[in-house]
Parts: sequence; C-alpha cells; structure tokens
Amino acid sequence: AAHDFDVDTRTGFMPPAAPLSRLPPPWEAWESTLDEARRLNLKLGDTPDLPESEKVKSESWRSHVRNLPVLPIGDIKKSELYLRRAHHVLGFIMHFYIHSLPPDAPVVIPVSIALPLLQVSAQLRLPPILTYSDNVLYNWDLKPGPTTMENVPTVDNLRSQTLFTGTTDEEEFYLTSARIELKGVEALELMQVIMDEAFVGDDIAIRRITEYLHKLADVLRELRTTLLAIKEHCNPDIFYHLIRPWFSGQDSDPAHRPWVFQGIETDPTLEQPTELSGPSAGQSSLIHALDIFLGVDQYSHHSAVTGSSSASSGGIAKSSFLDRMQSYMPRHHRQFLQHLAANPRPLRKIVSSSKDPALLEAYNNAVLALKEFRDAHMIIVALYIIGPSRRPVPNAVTEHLREDFKKDYGVETLKGTGGTELARFLKDVRDRTAGAVLPEA
Ligand code: HEM
Ligand code: ALA
Repeated sequence: AAHDFDVDTRTGFMPPAAPLSRLPPPWEAWESTLDEARRLNLKLGDTPDLPESEKVKSESWRSHVRNLPVLPIGDIKKSELYLRRAHHVLGFIMHFYIHSLPPDAPVVIPVSIALPLLQVSAQLRLPPILTYSDNVLYNWDLKPGPTTMENVPTVDNLRSQTLFTGTTDEEEFYLTSARIELKGVEALELMQVIMDEAFVGDDIAIRRITEYLHKLADVLRELRTTLLAIKEHCNPDIFYHLIRPWFSGQDSDPAHRPWVFQGIETDPTLEQPTELSGPSAGQSSLIHALDIFLGVDQYSHHSAVTGSSSASSGGIAKSSFLDRMQSYMPRHHRQFLQHLAANPRPLRKIVSSSKDPALLEAYNNAVLALKEFRDAHMIIVALYIIGPSRRPVPNAVTEHLREDFKKDYGVETLKGTGGTELARFLKDVRDRTAGAVLPEA
C-alpha cells in the first residue's frame, strides 16, 4: 500500500518521473512571469547600494505582476501534477516579489498571485508559501544526455528546474537534499523489513532486526557524508548573502512585516493564512520518518522554543517546530508519517523490553548515527550561516555589496529560513537525539 502514501520504492519521497516543467497554455502568464524574473536576474531588495537601474528593472517586473489578470485555477484542480506545478510557480513568483521589494516596503502580495496561490494551496492542503517540496522534491529534471532505460532520478543525473539566482551554488543546495532523499530510500527499505520482522518477533527475527539496524546506521552515515559534500559545491558567502534571503518566510523577517494577501476577502472559502514559515529541510519527511521509526521523535519534537507560528499563543500549547513542519509536507507524506507513528509494535519498545544486548547495541548505533548526522548539520549551519553573519561581505560575493556591509542583527537572534532561533533549536534537537540512546540493562 506504499502507493497510497506517494512513496516510491525506487525514489522514496521524490517522484520517480520528472515533475511537470510547465503549466498548460491557459496559465502561460504565470510561467512567463517566472521566466522573466529569472531572465532579469532580479536582485534582493535589501542589497545595499543597489544601482538605480536594478531598482527600476525590479519595480517594472513587480508592476507587471500587479497587472496580471487574476486567472481562475479551473482545471488545475483536477490534476495533482498541475496543482504541484502551480504551487511551485506561484510560490517562486511570490518570493521573487516579496524579497525584491525595498526593505522598508510593506509586504502586499498582489491579488493576481495571492488568490490563485491561496486556492491552489487549499486544494493541496499546504500553506501558501514556498516549501521544501517546491524547492527540492518537485524541482528537478534529468540532466540532458544519454538516458537510462528507466529514466529514474539518481544522485548524479539531476538538475534543478527553478532557481532564484541561477548559481550552481543554489542548485547544489537543492540537489544535496535531493541526493539525501534518494540515498534515504535504502533507509526506508530497512525500516520496512525491520517492521516486518518485528511482526514475527521470534529470536530469529530479533537477530535479523539487529543486523538491519547496523545497516541502517551505515546508511545514516552515508547521508551524513552526502550532507557534508555540499561544501564542495556551494560557497558559504554566496549562500548566506545571495541565496537564503530569498527563502525567508513571514517569521524570519528581521523587520517583522506582516504578509498581506490581496483579494482574500473576495473568496469566502479562503482563510487568512496562519502558517508562513519559509522553506526548510526541516520539512523533509525522510528525517521525520527516521525520528518516528527510531522513537527519537518523542524526544526531539517536543522541544523548547522552536520557532513561532503566526498562529495564536497565550495558554494554548504551541506545537513544536518539527510538528508544525509536517503541515508543510505533501499531504500523502504527512499521512505516511501518521501511519508510521501509529505502528502498534514500535521498535524502541521492542528494544527496551528485550533483554538482548546485541539488539540494544544495534539500536543505539542507529540512534548515534542519526545524532552524528545532526552534528554534521550543525557544522554546516556554522559554516553557512553563523560564519558569514559574523564577517564582512567579501568582495567576491558581488560587486553590488559594499565591502564593509554587515547585517546588524546579532548571532543570538539569527533565524533559520523556517523561523527558528537556529543555534538553540538545532542544539536542542541534536541533544534530544543523543538522549534517545537506551542505557544498557
Ligand atoms: C533545519 C540550515 C542543509 C536537514 C535547519 C535549520 C537551519 C538549517 C537554520 C533550522 C530550521 C529553520 O529555521 O530553518 C541549513 C543550512 C544548510 C542545510 C544552512 C545547507 C547550506 C540541510 C540538508 C538537509 C537538512 C541538505 C537534509 C535533508 C535539516 C533538518 C532540519 C533542518 C532535518 C530540522 C532539524 C532536525 O531535524 O535536526 N537547517 N540546512 N538541512 N535541516 Fe538544514
Ligand atoms: N533552513 C536553511 C537556512 O536557514 C535553508 O538557511
């Protein structure tokens, strides 16, 4: 029944066929508007000393967006693949629009984009903002060149469809996640066979589970290696100054501007969006699946202050960042995680109630491998966010940034694109993963 959850045996949470690369002709205005943003090479609005010509170019593109007709979503509704593409295209246009605005401008999303994005998002049960699936899962094509018989995506035959900056640094940032998703298929397979054995539950099954858990730990260590390989392809200063500001959501805006969706009142079926966190690999179903499977989620999700939603607070228990991120995942994947969480024979329980020291050791090995993945992720965050935030912008980044320019918000308030207080949050999740190690009997 893996199919119901839209999880593929070869490609996991990635689709086995390349995502649609263009909507049909009735929605060409959206596609060409996105093409145009790319062609103009729009700059971030808060770039200091942005030349007048860049400002004019950028304002004329935004004026074009404001003047687009409000296209009905019509038959897009009938196709999951059209809906995905529409969310991708409208999401990228919205982020281009917002983040090319001058830094002090109010954030008003024109009705031409706001309305269809809200309508498409309602169909998909997703927030009206760019997500990990728009950037990674549904943002790839096979590289041109000799194709294999099956044309299945692999770690080395992918390219990205849409980029904000057109840099290989940005492309490799998305593709690193894509490669982790594809490598992660081996982890999904191991999880499946372990659950099958857990159902049998005799001594032989326990021995097999032990062996599979060691294999799972090996796969997790390969995910760590894949993650660290981002260093070969993506320059930290380019990432920090030129790429990641495009991802910001409402809750990672240092100026705390509310996002106003124009025209929302004209469609009574629409609600004011409450979830407006920017895309983050915290939305990767693969990592959530590993947490749930290993039982780490009971430790890692209900952590301290982990990013605020724009939803209410005060008295009501706020769901943690990682729980909230599940609402940004494709709904079938969200259901997959719920299914996994409802497993009547959770691994951690089997391990803790068994008196088998080899099983215990294998379980702890897998948990530690996940912790090591998170250690490596913290190294990446130090390299790609904390480091660049502390030093002046090097000349090499862009001729458009002054050498002495430095963002003036301090490291303590540095926020992830998903809106978390990143240093505290990531340390907390890592420590809770380590805390899931079971003591020897
Ligand atoms: C969360 C940064 C690459 C997996 C986060 C967060 C930050 C961050 C700041 C905190 C949440 C937020 O507010 O956004 C980075 C940077 C990367 C990078 C700078 C590369 C330059 C990746 C990759 C993956 C990944 C390739 C693998 C799929 C995660 C996960 C979380 C997370 C799973 C949630 C926290 C956890 O479960 O430990 N990342 N990330 N990240 N990131 Fe990354
Ligand atoms: N979530 C990543 C960041 O904060 C992309 O930079």
